Amino acid sequence: MSSEQKATNITWHEGNITRMDRERLNGHRGAVVWFTGLSGSGKSTIARALEEALFERGIRAYVLDGDNIRHGLNKNLGFSPEDRQENIRRIGEVAKLFADAGLIAITAFISPYRADRDQARAINGEDFIEVYVDCALDVCESRDPKGLYQKARAGLIPEFTGISAPYEPPLNPELVIDSAALSVDESVRSVISLLESRGIIPARS
Ligand code: ADX
Repeated sequence: MSSEQKATNITWHEGNITRMDRERLNGHRGAVVWFTGLSGSGKSTIARALEEALFERGIRAYVLDGDNIRHGLNKNLGFSPEDRQENIRRIGEVAKLFADAGLIAITAFISPYRADRDQARAINGEDFIEVYVDCALDVCESRDPKGLYQKARAGLIPEFTGISAPYEPPLNPELVIDSAALSVDESVRSVISLLESRGIIPARS
């Protein structure tokens, strides 16, 4: 699927309310916290716990999760490299809208290809915070929360990440979470510290 500009005769239109206005209203900045990692690494669990912790602090955050988004916006995409690329491109763009709305977009997608994540980073510039949920394949496979690794090993799921499709770990992520060693709470705390140290959310007094 080509992501080149197709429409002509379109004009960008600015509103009177700026991103800064919205951020002032919200009391924090917009950002994109981009979780990447194998299926079963803990992305969605940590993303949900982060969303909850931020909510409790009065911070507007929203999780975009691969399994959910593939039921709606991206329901016409599968798991070929081309479809994953389009999946990630769309989420990169949606996350950008969230950040522009002054919200914290938390994304939980395997996003296995470095080039696709780099494209999402290019779309989002300084707002993009890549968090690698680092977890060995055998640990993810032993967790197998959805029973998918077992099916993939049995040859029932083609192009399954880690088994019959690649996962390219980030080379220079903003944060690495070792989810086999850290609890969910500890993982969330490390993301929150990063958001505080970057001035995206106010530090707790
Ligand atoms: S991504 O590679 O395009 O980023 P995404 O995060 O949206 O993937 O979706 C991954 C989820 O889809 C997995 O957590 C799993 O539940 C499900 N899934 C189904 N088939 C596959 C597959 N072939 N490879 C990876 N995940 C799959």
